Amino acid sequence: MVSLNSEEHFNRLVSKIPDEFQEHIYAARNSVKDIYSVFEHNMPVPVWQSKGFNDTDIQVWEQICRKLKNSSKDDPVSIYLHIPFCKDGKCGFCDCLSIAVNKGTDLKRFTEILINEIRTWSEIPELKNKPVSVIYLGGGTPNSLSDNDFKRVLQELAEGFNVSSKTQISVECRAHLLNNEKLDFLKSLNVTRISIGIQTMEEKLRNRIGRHSKASEIPDIIRTIKDKGIIACGDIIYGLPDQTVTGYIKTINDLIIAGIDGISVYRFNISDRNNDFIRQTFPYFKKDEMLNYILFHIGHRMLIGSGYKKNHFIHFSKADDNSYYRHLLRGEDLIAIGPTSDGIIDTYRYRNHPLKEYLTDKNGTFLHFEGGMEEPPEVKRNRKAATQVMCSYIEKETFQKPELKNLFDIWVNHKIIEKDDMENTYHLTANGSWLVDQLLREIYHNTKERK
Ligand SMILES: C[S@@+](CC[C@H](N)C(=O)[O-])C[C@H]1O[C@@H](n2cnc3c(N)ncnc32)[C@H](O)[C@@H]1O
Ligand code: SF4
Repeated sequence: MVSLNSEEHFNRLVSKIPDEFQEHIYAARNSVKDIYSVFEHNMPVPVWQSKGFNDTDIQVWEQICRKLKNSSKDDPVSIYLHIPFCKDGKCGFCDCLSIAVNKGTDLKRFTEILINEIRTWSEIPELKNKPVSVIYLGGGTPNSLSDNDFKRVLQELAEGFNVSSKTQISVECRAHLLNNEKLDFLKSLNVTRISIGIQTMEEKLRNRIGRHSKASEIPDIIRTIKDKGIIACGDIIYGLPDQTVTGYIKTINDLIIAGIDGISVYRFNISDRNNDFIRQTFPYFKKDEMLNYILFHIGHRMLIGSGYKKNHFIHFSKADDNSYYRHLLRGEDLIAIGPTSDGIIDTYRYRNHPLKEYLTDKNGTFLHFEGGMEEPPEVKRNRKAATQVMCSYIEKETFQKPELKNLFDIWVNHKIIEKDDMENTYHLTANGSWLVDQLLREIYHNTKERK
């Protein structure tokens, strides 16, 4: 890593970015540098990972059913479906939990198990009438399933749950798997939101990281999605090897001009899932968090300046209310279906098994849980505050408890959060989004993260 605490390094990097961003980035860094390290990233691990699950298999199901029995039948719910397959190969840069579809991949069998799981959930009487706010199909690339299997999955959800025209149905897609016909097909299944993994609009870089579509095709795809009355969103990444500041600015500009409804802005992450590819393809690459900090601030300023609002710490939206990421803010349960998916029913958290175990024959019974647990008191107590921070929708009243009040004041004074113009709430500034992992740890553990 580059010497991260070096002010010289920071100054040198800022001197190379367009003038219009420089003053803003200096001011942002100065407002936090004395109290937070802007280079430490360490998202708090899920509570089950630090404490271990209390329940397994049948016990998890019993707890879930018990919780749902006690809930009101009209409470809305959200549904997440994980389809961890990628047609046309795994992209080297990607660190998501997904695998490439190859000759041996039995997608039919996966679909049968998934449908079996959907049915099992839909048979819980208390779930029958709860309106479904959002169905989010994440991946992988969910439309790696054949059209027929994809349709069966969505039909099963529509028949088994209280899905209406108000339900947002969102699908993560790869651009080269979308054409007019495919979009009509998705529209016919009432898909209302599509999220494309764009990553970058730098043509050469796209090629090197394994994107199959051309950057020049993306604006047309966005426009076609929108013409069909579907919300068009995309993911981009900053900090990719060989990414240039100019190319990153162009990426955001092109997408704004194309009229994209929402953008998630990810910091490039290296893990054991993509490390080999990065070392082989970009052997000289060194992660530079100082540069990442600057890039994030540039993107943030461009998007906010163009009228996008954050509804999640890294998601910027115009016409996209991005229902999925705000399910906890709305107080909804999340029914997670499919391998390695995480759900929450009231204060009970559960996780499904990874793919290998998920596909293991269970004699026709569906019990695919890796485990479940009741949230510990410290998580329960501060979940609302943490959720508001994650969703960049912070109410002052939530932070009036003695252990949080001090935090709120510090965050306001150091411009980590600021008041919304129109509403009586506060949102995360670019620094707030950047520091979100430290803010969450401060909320949960009341630890002194600050310098
Ligand atoms: C679950 S993936 C689905 C993307 C979709 N299959 C596609 O390829 O277009 C969601 C997003 O995670 C982000 N992502 C994947 N690998 C990443 C990495 N190593 N660092 C940061 N973000 C990453 C990408 O922006 C990607 O679009
Ligand atoms: S970026 Fe998308 S298509 Fe590529 S491997 Fe990751 S999930 Fe699969």
